[in-house]
Amino acid sequence: MSLSKFDHLAKSLDELGRLGRDRRLVTRIPNGLQFRQDGHTIVNFGSNDYLGLAQRQQQRSAYVGSGASALVCGWTDHHERLADTIARLESTEAAVVFPSGFAACSGTMATLPQAGDLILSDELNHASIIDGCRLSRADCIVYPHRDTNTLQNILSTQRSKYVHVWMVTDSVFSMDGHIAPLHDLCDIAEQFDANVVVDEAHATGVLGEHGSGACEALDVKSRVPVRIGTLSKAIGSQGGFVAGPRVVIDYLINRCRTLIFSTSLSPAATIAAIESFERLQSEPELRNRVTALAKEVRLQLSLPPVSELEAAIPIIPLMVGAERKATELSGALLKLGYYVPAIRPPTVPDGTSRLRISVSAGHSDEMVDGLIEAINQVR
Ligand SMILES: Cc1ncc(COP(=O)(O)O)c(C=O)c1O
Repeated sequence: MSLSKFDHLAKSLDELGRLGRDRRLVTRIPNGLQFRQDGHTIVNFGSNDYLGLAQRQQQRSAYVGSGASALVCGWTDHHERLADTIARLESTEAAVVFPSGFAACSGTMATLPQAGDLILSDELNHASIIDGCRLSRADCIVYPHRDTNTLQNILSTQRSKYVHVWMVTDSVFSMDGHIAPLHDLCDIAEQFDANVVVDEAHATGVLGEHGSGACEALDVKSRVPVRIGTLSKAIGSQGGFVAGPRVVIDYLINRCRTLIFSTSLSPAATIAAIESFERLQSEPELRNRVTALAKEVRLQLSLPPVSELEAAIPIIPLMVGAERKATELSGALLKLGYYVPAIRPPTVPDGTSRLRISVSAGHSDEMVDGLIEAINQVR
């Protein structure tokens, strides 16, 4: 992967620096109205903690309110540690933490692709990516789900009209449990000098030897320069992140409105996420268990065969079709003691309503056996 692809971002950052308009995250220890830094006591007049309540929470080990945007004074040493942890796990130069996964996805897509660029977006991408593409000044073409032939045809005819091309995809599609064809996407990106941006929301913590996601599991980490994730799913906290080359992260810090103009992630969520990333390494049995359970549920429900990696994904859709039927089945399962949500349009296309089973390492064998029995009883 050549960093020269991001030369235009580096140039833009240099220009901001020349104008004295460059921004950076300033680590503060700790968040509060008064703190010590380099031997001095500093009284903080940058926080939005108007009633002093966030400061009071600091007496607890994990306080909630961060008080301000990450660029004002909401970026604590906890945030810095979390960003370092993520960059290490993702094997990237840098990472930055967002208040939510939605903000990370929408902000990244609204910021990196610019006027004169083209975005190619899978039709089943998450709403946060769709909204980010809508906000971007780049042109956007939505391609049929996982259809790399169409993608190749679009690029054959359109590539020369655009400065940069950004191919964006969920790595694991949230309503289907499908995996994006990441190898083919990377090949196409290399053929047409495009960038791949992957949202690992449902894969972080679940897939890959170290739990960093589908890019790791499919060995394409070094070919996907920008990876987005959420801390709200397998990591069990809240918040989102972007990991990538230093220049990309610095550009987001300077230009990404969902990062700059939103209060930073809660310190409590930040600390919880750091602990979860530590557990990811010390307890690999958790992801072994959830992926084994996912395979078992698919097998027990006699679902159509999928690839080895796809079978390991803990999102298992049971296709129903009609909306009413999906809600009835969900209601019948609830009466038997199992909550399996019905997913209906507009979240999924018309006529594809479904039950969406999400398995967890925290489910016992008895719980899973009971669910299978209940499903077989109602369907
Ligand atoms: C694929 C995908 N991306 C992004 C998000 C947004 O993450 P968060 O809930 O942390 O805002 C979600 C959440 O549902 C998701 O499924």
